[in-house]
Amino acid sequence: MKITKETKVYIAGCGGMLGEAVYEYFSARSQVLATDIDQNTDWLEYADVREYGDMHRSITAFDPDLIINLAALTDLEYCEKNPDNAWATNALGAENVALIASKLDVPIVYICTAGIVDGKQDVYNDFDAPNPLSIYAKAKYHGELFVQRNNQQHFIFRAGWMMGGGPEKDKKFVNKIFQQIQSGQKELFVVDDKLGTPTYTVSFARGIFKVVESGLFGLYNQVCGGDCSRYDVAVEFVKLLGLEEEIKVTKVSSDHFKTEYFAPRPPSEKLVNFKLDRRNINFMPDWHDALRDYAERFK
Ligand SMILES: NC(=O)c1ccc[n+]([C@@H]2O[C@H](COP(=O)([O-])OP(=O)(O)OC[C@H]3O[C@@H](n4cnc5c(N)ncnc54)[C@H](OP(=O)(O)O)[C@@H]3O)[C@@H](O)[C@H]2O)c1
Repeated sequence: MKITKETKVYIAGCGGMLGEAVYEYFSARSQVLATDIDQNTDWLEYADVREYGDMHRSITAFDPDLIINLAALTDLEYCEKNPDNAWATNALGAENVALIASKLDVPIVYICTAGIVDGKQDVYNDFDAPNPLSIYAKAKYHGELFVQRNNQQHFIFRAGWMMGGGPEKDKKFVNKIFQQIQSGQKELFVVDDKLGTPTYTVSFARGIFKVVESGLFGLYNQVCGGDCSRYDVAVEFVKLLGLEEEIKVTKVSSDHFKTEYFAPRPPSEKLVNFKLDRRNINFMPDWHDALRDYAERFK
């Protein structure tokens, strides 16, 4: 589908780290209605994906040509401790939005996660079978399967370790490292036994736009090029901030954080963009370049 200034795009769960980039990219090129339960900016309206009736009202009133569902509870430990809310948001919420999209006969974009694999394999392409370990991953995978089965016109993107949103909105690894630096820590302990692929929100948003425009429905891995451990990302980030002389990054195993990060995580959740590459619609940069760009927001 061609996306023009007249195209109406409804974005659910747009108040988060990916939402910021998706809103920026799409609102410059189309008419966007962005909603979330967390109205943290003035361009967000309230809508809760857990409530079918409310969602239906909010979406049908806007009458979109495309629906993007970004809403999720993304804190793995919170999801383990609050399984009902995790299932209601990440699985039932995904179903609600998908049902509305199929009723309105419009394409839907759903974001899944690299975290649905069990890590027994080193690298995963788009066709490798998932085996989710945590409540978060199980619920997200349910959402993915529902969208696949229910919505013919679907674009599903599996994302890796999300980087984006800056100090204000980033809830994930890069900002957690930044917070520790800001609080004056001179030594950072970072795991080197968890492998994955960073995923830059700015490139990811552009990727969504371009793949939707290609009209090639389906499921895609969409991550940055290259892979790494959490330790590699921390070392690179500290270097990009020019702090490598002042801050020591020390490798530890996941056991070091077993109380704080108790949700099961795969040892490897490395993805490759096999399908995007083969179809010449891979717009993701190498993770080093992405992090260099992203680090500017923390200077
Ligand atoms: N972050 C990652 O590392 C990662 C990796 C792979 C895939 N993904 C997927 O990418 C998508 C975007 O996530 P993100 O990275 O931008 O995470 P995020 O910053 O946590 O954004 C998700 C947004 O959804 C909102 N939300 C939660 N429950 C909702 C509900 N019931 N109705 C409407 N909105 C709700 C959240 O609000 P609150 O802040 O109030 O919870 C938040 O603003 C999600 O589908 C996520 O599963 C994320």
